[in-house]
Amino acid sequence: MIILSALNRAFDFRSFGSNGVLKNVLTSFIRIVVVTCLLMGCQKAGAQEVARGAASTSTALHSSLDNPTIEKKIDALLRKMTLDEKVGQLVQYSVGQPAGPVTGPTEYTDMIIKGEVGALFNITTARDTNAYQRLAMEKSRLKIPLVFGLDVIHGFRTEFPIPLGMASTWDPELVQRASRVAGREASATGIRWVFSPMVDIARDARWGRMAEGAGEDPYLGAAMARAYVKGYQGERLSDPESVAACVKHYVGYGAAEAGRDYNSVEISEHTLREFYLPPFHSAVDAGVATIMTAFDSLNGIPASANPFTIREILRKEWGFKGLVDSDWTSIAELIPHGIANDPASAARKAFLAGVEVDMVSGFYHDNLASLVHAGTVPESDVDQAVRDVLRLKFGLDLFEHPYADEKKEAETMLQAESVALAREVAERSFVLLKNSSSSDGAPILPLSSDSKNVALIGPLADDAANMLGSWTAQGRPQDVITLRAALVNRLGADHVHYAQGSEITKGSDDQQEKAVKTAQASDVVILALGEDGPNMTGEAASRAHLGLPGRQEQLLEAIVATGKPVVLVLFSGRPLTLPWAFEHVPAVLAVWFPGIQAGPALVRTLFGESNPTGRLPVSWPRDVGQEPLYYDELSTGRPAGNADLTKPPWEGSVKYVSRYIDEQNSAQFPFGYGLTYTSFRFGPPQLSSTKLSAETLNRELHEPPGTALSEISVSADISNAGSRAGEETVQLYLRLEGTSTAQPVRALKGFQHVIIAAGETKRVTFQVGADAFALWDEHNKYVVEPARVKIWVSPDSAQGAEAAFEITK
Ligand code: NOJ
Repeated sequence: MIILSALNRAFDFRSFGSNGVLKNVLTSFIRIVVVTCLLMGCQKAGAQEVARGAASTSTALHSSLDNPTIEKKIDALLRKMTLDEKVGQLVQYSVGQPAGPVTGPTEYTDMIIKGEVGALFNITTARDTNAYQRLAMEKSRLKIPLVFGLDVIHGFRTEFPIPLGMASTWDPELVQRASRVAGREASATGIRWVFSPMVDIARDARWGRMAEGAGEDPYLGAAMARAYVKGYQGERLSDPESVAACVKHYVGYGAAEAGRDYNSVEISEHTLREFYLPPFHSAVDAGVATIMTAFDSLNGIPASANPFTIREILRKEWGFKGLVDSDWTSIAELIPHGIANDPASAARKAFLAGVEVDMVSGFYHDNLASLVHAGTVPESDVDQAVRDVLRLKFGLDLFEHPYADEKKEAETMLQAESVALAREVAERSFVLLKNSSSSDGAPILPLSSDSKNVALIGPLADDAANMLGSWTAQGRPQDVITLRAALVNRLGADHVHYAQGSEITKGSDDQQEKAVKTAQASDVVILALGEDGPNMTGEAASRAHLGLPGRQEQLLEAIVATGKPVVLVLFSGRPLTLPWAFEHVPAVLAVWFPGIQAGPALVRTLFGESNPTGRLPVSWPRDVGQEPLYYDELSTGRPAGNADLTKPPWEGSVKYVSRYIDEQNSAQFPFGYGLTYTSFRFGPPQLSSTKLSAETLNRELHEPPGTALSEISVSADISNAGSRAGEETVQLYLRLEGTSTAQPVRALKGFQHVIIAAGETKRVTFQVGADAFALWDEHNKYVVEPARVKIWVSPDSAQGAEAAFEITK
C-alpha cells in the first residue's frame, strides 16, 4: 500500500474533484488500473493513461478557465457592453448545410457587425472562418471574436471509427489520442469548439444515435468521456491545437421511449444518478468546457428547460464552471413540447433553467432583451451567461489569436501518423463475434496468407462514403481505402473476385445470381453486409427492425448455400439481429463504420496480422423485442435463473418467472464480449479478505478522493490456452445484495488489458475500494451500505466464476 499512498500524493485529486459518484468511480478506476499496472509491470496501458491524463487535464483547464486575469478582462469588457451586445454573445447560428429545422435568420453579416452573434458553426475552411471572423474583429464595435463550432464526432479530416467503434476498443488512451488528432485538424481550420463527446447511455439499439456514443455502461462511458475531453482540450485550452469539447446531450436523451429519436424520457432520479449521469459527471470532472442540453423531455420537463438537472445537479452539485449550450432549436422546441405557448416564454423558461446559448432558434435574439426590460429575466443572469461565453473565448485565446493560419491548414490534415492511428483504432475496434471451425478443424479466421481465390461480395465491400458513418465533418470518400481496394492491394486483382450482390436497401435477382456464381468459383467468401451509415444510423435514424436492410439477408443465405466458407464482415452503427447468420455463418466480425483506414485495418485483421481485441460496449440482442436490453439490469422478484428459456412454458419450461414465452432473455452476445485468435482461461477470483466495514468505506468516500482506507484486492489467473499470443480485456464486475435500493445483477467496476504469450499465465489484480461499493440509496444519497458482495473477474458480463464477501456495518 506504499504504492497507493504515493499515487494518491502524485495525483492531487483534491484539486479538481467535486462531490458525487463519478469522482469516486473514476478514482477507483484510476487506482485500480494504475496500481495493478505497477504491480504487474503493466502489459498494455489503455486505462492507465487516461487516469494520468485526468489529473493533468483537469488542473490545466481550471487554470485556463479559472484565471483571475481573465476575470478582470471579462469585467472590463462587460462594462462596455450594451444589453443587445450581451444578448448577441448568447446567440449561435449554423452557416452551411442545415442539420435540423431552421427557425432563425440565415444571413449573418449585418448581425455580426452589429454584435448580435457570438458563435457560428458548420463552417469548414480556414478561409471561411477567417472571413466571418474579420467581420467581428474589424467591423463590430467591441471586436469580440466569434467562436466557430462543428460536429467533429470521430475525426475531422482523418476519420476514425464511429464512437461506438471507438468504445469497442475499451482503450481510453487510444481514444484520447484520436480526439487529439481531430482537435488539431479542426483547429487548423479555425474551429475551436467541437460538439463531442456524446456520452448518452444507450440501452436500446433501435435508437440510431447509439452509434455516436460509448454504449450502455456508465463505467466504460465515464472512462471514454474523460478520454475525449482530455484529447480535445489537451493540457491547455489556449494551445492553438486544443479545442473546447462539448459533452452532450444533457440528459437522458438516449432513453427515448421505444428507441424513437426525440421521444419522451421517464427516468427516476435514482436511475438518472446511477446510470445516466456518470459519464457527464466524468466529463465535468475532467474539465469539459461546455455542455449541450438535450431534445428530450425528462419526466415531463424538457431537458433544455430543466432547472433540476442544470442548476441543481450540474452547477451546484458538480460545480460546473463552463458554458451551457442548447441543442439545435431545442429552445424553440419548448413550444411543441407544450411548456411554452410563444417564443418569449420558451426563451424565458430555457434561460431561467440555465441554458445560456441559443443554438439556431433565434429566440434569445428576439426576446431576451425585452424579457430583461420586462423584469422577468434578471440582467445579472444575462451577465453571468455572457461571462461564461467570454471566459471560453479568452480561455481559447481567441482575442489574441482570432484567425486560422490558412497556409498551415492543408498540411495539418491527414498526416502520416494520424492516418496510422486511424488504422490502429480501427483494428482495435473490430469485435470478433464468431469464429468456428471449417472442415479442416481449424477456425476459419485468420485466413491463410496464401489464399489466392477470394470472393468479395456485398454492398459495403467497396463503398467509401459509408465507411465514414453518419457524421463526417471534413471526412471525404476519396480519403477512404475500402475493403476491396485493400484486398486487391494485398492479393492482386487476379485473386479477388468482386460482386456487389445487392445494394444496401435494394437489389435484384441478377445481382444476386452473379454473386452466387462468384462465390461458387472461389475458395472462400468475404461478405461485406450491413447498414447505410449516413441514412440508417445517427440522428433521426431510429429503426423498428434490426435485421439486415433490403435483400441482404437473402443474399447472405444464398451465398452460404454455396457451401463455401464464409466470413461475414458486418458494418453497422448498432448491433443487428441476425440469428440465422449467427447459427450458419462460421465467422462474423462486427466492424461498425471503421473510418478512412477501413480496408487496411480489415485486411490485416482477416489475415491475422492484427489479432482482434475489440469488446462489445452494448448487449447484442437476439431480437428487437428484447429492447431495451442491457446487462446491468436489476433482478426481478421472479428471476428466470438458470431455467431453460429456449422452450416455451407449455413444453416443460418454467412459466411464472420474468421471461418471454418465445425468446430467451439473454443477449445473443453479452456486453463485454469479443473473441480473439487465441483463447483464454480464467481462474476463479481470489480475494485478499472476506470482510470490509461500511463505516470505514463511508469515511473514505468523504476523504479526499484517492484516499484508500479500506480495500480488497481481487485477483485471477488468466491463461492463454491457444497457440498464439493475444490480448485479453479482463473485466471486473460486482453485485451488491441486501442494500436499500436494488442494485444491478452485475456492474462493471474495472478493466485491464493484458497481453499473454501462448501457453502462459498471468495474474491480474484489481484493488477495489469505497467508490466501487458506493450506491445511490433510497434518499438519493451516495453511500456504502452493509451488503453481501458478489464479484467476478471475467472476459465479459455473462461469464466467470463468482466469489463473495461481506460489507459489514
Ligand atoms: C443536433 C444534434 O442533436 C447535436 O448532436 C448536434 O451537435 C447539433 N445538431 C449541431 O449540429
